Amino acid sequence: MSQTLPDIDALSAELAGQSAQTIIKRALELFDDQLWLSFSGAEDVVLLDMAWKINPQVKVFTLDTGRLHPETYQFLEKVRSHYQIELEVLSPDAEALQELVKRKGLFSFYQDGHQECCGIRKIAPLKRKLATVKAWATGQRKDQSPGTRSQVAVVELDNTFGSPDRPLYKFNPLASMTSEEVWGYIRMLELPYNSLHERGFISIGCEPCTRAVLPNQHEREGRWWWEEATHKECGLHAGNIISKA
Ligand code: ADX
Ligand code: SF4
Repeated sequence: MSQTLPDIDALSAELAGQSAQTIIKRALELFDDQLWLSFSGAEDVVLLDMAWKINPQVKVFTLDTGRLHPETYQFLEKVRSHYQIELEVLSPDAEALQELVKRKGLFSFYQDGHQECCGIRKIAPLKRKLATVKAWATGQRKDQSPGTRSQVAVVELDNTFGSPDRPLYKFNPLASMTSEEVWGYIRMLELPYNSLHERGFISIGCEPCTRAVLPNQHEREGRWWWEEATHKECGLHAGNIISKA
């Protein structure tokens, strides 16, 4: 990091309406190796590709919940070797996980919602990671969820994992890209992709909580399908819900 950080409003104004490449380039310029990409193993390979072309040493982590599809694990390895990157794989705290499973079994989310399991398998490891960085970038897009993502900003101060004392910048460079544009990019550049996409999966999370969607069903309907549409955020992007409250 070589320069003073701009004020968040000035940065938002500067990046409004810019291309995903311009946004990620600026984020890397500002934060260098203090910026980490949060890679889910799905369509956000587009973000990784754009960032990697600017800086092949780009930092990337993924949250291994222990419940991903075999295809996703295979894809993560494919990405690691395709880009020759050190993909940091974050695991949940073993003790907390064992305690949950002992108390409630392996499928408690079908009974009382996904928040507790996501809290241990995704949010706590993410929180630990984000405590060590100055900025992160995600592949969130507005068109992924009319219920919770229509307001996704290209850059924001993350008030969930950061604080006034420790500002954490969150970039969402793909915010304004559509699914069509993302897939146009993947196909045109022949990027590797998760083979689950060939079987009707669009949005991909953990195996027990993700299913393929039917033609014309919204992609989010394949996630936590037993819950209300407006609850379909696991806490990674909690601000999406809070800001709409
Ligand atoms: S989720 O919150 O509902 O699971 P979604 O699958 O739409 O999120 O992905 C949106 C963005 O969140 C991804 O582009 C990625 O940046 C981040 N993300 C989601 N799941 C993971 C994961 N397992 N590891 C790292 N980042 C993730
Ligand atoms: Fe647990 Fe499902 Fe959340 Fe994965 S998506 S962490 S399995 S509740």
